[in-house]
Amino acid sequence: MPGCCRGAACEEMFKPRFARRTLKRYRKKGLDKLERRMVASIPATALDGARVLEIGGGIGTIQAELLAAGAAQGEIVELVAAYEPYARELALEKGLAQRSTFRVADVLEQPELVAPADVVVLNRVVCCTPDGVRLTGVAARLAMRMLVLTIPRDRLLMRVFMRVGNTVLGLLGRSFRAFVHPRASLCAAAEAEGMHLVGAGHGVVWEFLALQRAA
Ligand SMILES: C[S@@+](CC[C@H](N)C(=O)[O-])C[C@H]1O[C@@H](n2cnc3c(N)ncnc32)[C@H](O)[C@@H]1O
Repeated sequence: MPGCCRGAACEEMFKPRFARRTLKRYRKKGLDKLERRMVASIPATALDGARVLEIGGGIGTIQAELLAAGAAQGEIVELVAAYEPYARELALEKGLAQRSTFRVADVLEQPELVAPADVVVLNRVVCCTPDGVRLTGVAARLAMRMLVLTIPRDRLLMRVFMRVGNTVLGLLGRSFRAFVHPRASLCAAAEAEGMHLVGAGHGVVWEFLALQRAA
């Protein structure tokens, strides 16, 4: 299925070779340290029998870990179709093929076509769109129990780094750009949908946020 115009910029970056390498790295090393902390921030009670939605999930590594940890069903919704064979390969390898699906869709374009989930994941996704704050709000609306996301740290150095990277991408004729959205705006977008921050942590470059639906 061809990508929509928002997808076109991502398709420039996330090609089959990228997906293949992601799978290879995950097979060898598993999740990175911050991803493991993010997964650990989700209590077992939130996962019990849960449906997981990994928006912009790529090959679905976080979804796979959450299914292994007790979630019942998982769905990856991606702009880029190139991930699909690798997502399927991973699900098969992990014995999750019957519990996991992959769909090409733009969550911002047609949020009504995405079913709500107990746990929604946005791993390194909001930085790939100028609409990252809106995407966080949409993801929070779809999250019945928890929303977890990783974002580039909201630091001056990161902004400078992104600006240099985007200039290079422009010089190379690419339309993809990366964004550092203010942490406070991302949290506010989720809070406006009835969620509150229950966990956070960071490495040098990335930060994770865990938000729970208020009782
Ligand atoms: C940097 S990749 C991260 C992939 C994966 N989460 C990981 O960490 O390996 C960001 C992904 O978000 C997807 N994405 C961005 N905006 C999206 C949207 N509105 N709906 C669905 N997927 C989206 C892109 O297609 C891209 O594959």
